[in-house]
Amino acid sequence: MELKQILQDIYTELADKNDKGQVASYIPELANINPNKFGIHYISLEGNSYGLGDHQEKFSCQSIIKVLSLCLAIKNEGVKIWKRVGVEPSGTPFNSLVQLEYEHGIPRNPFINAGAIVICDILLSQLENPKDDFLAFVQKLALNSNINYNPKISASEKAHGYRNAALINMMKSFDNIENSIDDVLDFYYDICSIEMTCEELAQTFLLFANNGCIPNSNERIITTSQSKRINAIMQCCGFYDEAGEFSFKVGLPGKSGVGGGIVAIHPGKYAVAVWSPRLNKKGNSYKGILALELLTTKSELSIF
Ligand code: DON
Repeated sequence: MELKQILQDIYTELADKNDKGQVASYIPELANINPNKFGIHYISLEGNSYGLGDHQEKFSCQSIIKVLSLCLAIKNEGVKIWKRVGVEPSGTPFNSLVQLEYEHGIPRNPFINAGAIVICDILLSQLENPKDDFLAFVQKLALNSNINYNPKISASEKAHGYRNAALINMMKSFDNIENSIDDVLDFYYDICSIEMTCEELAQTFLLFANNGCIPNSNERIITTSQSKRINAIMQCCGFYDEAGEFSFKVGLPGKSGVGGGIVAIHPGKYAVAVWSPRLNKKGNSYKGILALELLTTKSELSIF
């Protein structure tokens, strides 16, 4: 069956689905979203691009952006970053504190909050104008200058970020944070607040389906080996304590965010982004996972 038809079928099938998920409310500003939004967008390396529903409406990327901050840190710093953050699945929720003390302030991986905060610390030390430089990097990957931070969302998260403050203080006590705690957290909240549409996210992530090159311009951003590694970490750690389940159901490397977005990629083939703000108990989009499971099942296009 043709992909366009498959997407249409998935959209129709899920439109009336009873979604038991809850919108994230621990960042109060995120709770203002209409919970029934639903969009999906698929782009293949050959240039086929199809979207449905709210696929052109911007939403808060949140943890999805952690893949792009990792990408920039790897590009600039190479293997040095792996002294400060691991590559193992944590098996714990994204904001969990428990492993960090007995593992001496080295987070398990760059996608749990602790690991993403270390990556922000690395970027703060690397970049001349971190906020501007990071946004320019995202815009370049997206081939789109209409991508921005949302200051209301970052301020809202900062005002309630007790967990992240605990994580960074613990890491600072183990000398795994170089910059000031406030500067690192401000930068972390800013990058999480970036907003994109499903279409923009699928376009941005195509680079990871294309061995580290932006498909349209063919500009190389990272090496093939670095791209392989980022995909491997998405596969093992992209969904926290639901990473095994996502692999089992969907069979693609991917990354979720508490804004309700999920991006997944099929190396050599395509990138797809979904958005549905109601989250399951693990903080991942309930309908988003269902949509991707249907996509790889009906199309028989997964990496396994
Ligand atoms: O730090 C936080 O809690 C958020 N800025 C990001 C968490 C997130 O998106 C988890 N993903 N499902």
